[in-house]
Amino acid sequence: MTERKLPRPRPEMAAFQPYRTPPVKADVRIQANEWPEPNPASLYITPRELDGVLLNRYPGRGDELREVLSARWGTRPDQLIFGNGSNELLLQVFLVFGGHGRKTLLFHPTYSMHGRLTVLAGGTVVEEMVGLPYDLTKERALAAMAKARPEIVVFTTPNNPTGNTIDGDLILEVAERYPETLVLVDEAYSDFAGKTLVPRMNEYPNMVISKTFSKVLAAAGLRVGALIVHPELMSYFTAAALPYNVSTLTLAVATRIARDEASIQRRLALAATERDRVYSALRRVSAIDVFPSVTNFILFRLHEGKPADVHARFVGESVLIRDISMWPGCQGCLRASLGTPPENDRFIAALDAVFAAPVVRR
Ligand SMILES: Cc1ncc(COP(=O)(O)O)c(C=O)c1O
Repeated sequence: MTERKLPRPRPEMAAFQPYRTPPVKADVRIQANEWPEPNPASLYITPRELDGVLLNRYPGRGDELREVLSARWGTRPDQLIFGNGSNELLLQVFLVFGGHGRKTLLFHPTYSMHGRLTVLAGGTVVEEMVGLPYDLTKERALAAMAKARPEIVVFTTPNNPTGNTIDGDLILEVAERYPETLVLVDEAYSDFAGKTLVPRMNEYPNMVISKTFSKVLAAAGLRVGALIVHPELMSYFTAAALPYNVSTLTLAVATRIARDEASIQRRLALAATERDRVYSALRRVSAIDVFPSVTNFILFRLHEGKPADVHARFVGESVLIRDISMWPGCQGCLRASLGTPPENDRFIAALDAVFAAPVVRR
């Protein structure tokens, strides 16, 4: 029998692996940098208010959400683009400014989606390995820019998975010296750090900044992100945008979440105390190096042994963390997000059991 012919994707897509990690059952789920406290939709929208959400019509432009967020960030309302999670907006950046024959410069280790989305958009990734501790200097960044001459450069600050910030002056200097490069600043975790480059955007039209509702806004399940763009670049993004990409229901709930400033401040305070507590507990484990974090997650590296074994031992204690040892520059590393205070108690208690037995040598 002759082999059946099937369509084939672009060669780089044939080798593409899915992003998702296999489902694992655990009581304490601190693997995805989400906000851990339950945040039900009913807190924001009542059954009666749902009567006003008319599903037969296409959504509007999200004018209310635009007002709330532009006031929060000090931008003009028309500088914002909304997406179904910030990942969708990151993809839009790579589709519009990347693509065939164009390069994205990444400083590793960093969030894996920037590289994946670059390839998905048909572009090429140039990797600069900063390693651990993640200390990106201005000299290093400028040298990498001079060598790669990328169409896009990405700075994730604070960075995932390392949990620390990149110097803002360094980013602005790159933007200044390379006005024809699109400088994408991923600020998914910037609220935790209390730092943002948004107020400097007017001076650097080549800088775009992404934000998400998935972290301190406690709404990863809602799927909302925002991209802040200088008016001079806006038309490129609006031309390429998918129409009606954020649903009416999502816009209604997101507006209320964004207005709830008191909850945001409470979560930030909680993250700060819990981070100190978890960090101190990790520091007491002699088998690992822990990297200081300003975010809602902490990176640590084993002195020896297999991360997969350590990960499995945590799962044995019903604690699910993330084995990121296969990420570039992250050999031997695992990452734990902050849980609720009782969940963090469970994580801290699990440390004794996990690290009491010697870690099996590779
Ligand atoms: C640096 C960074 N950017 C973006 C995202 C994705 O966010 P969203 O849920 O908005 O797609 C994440 C999620 O972990 C992240 O770590």
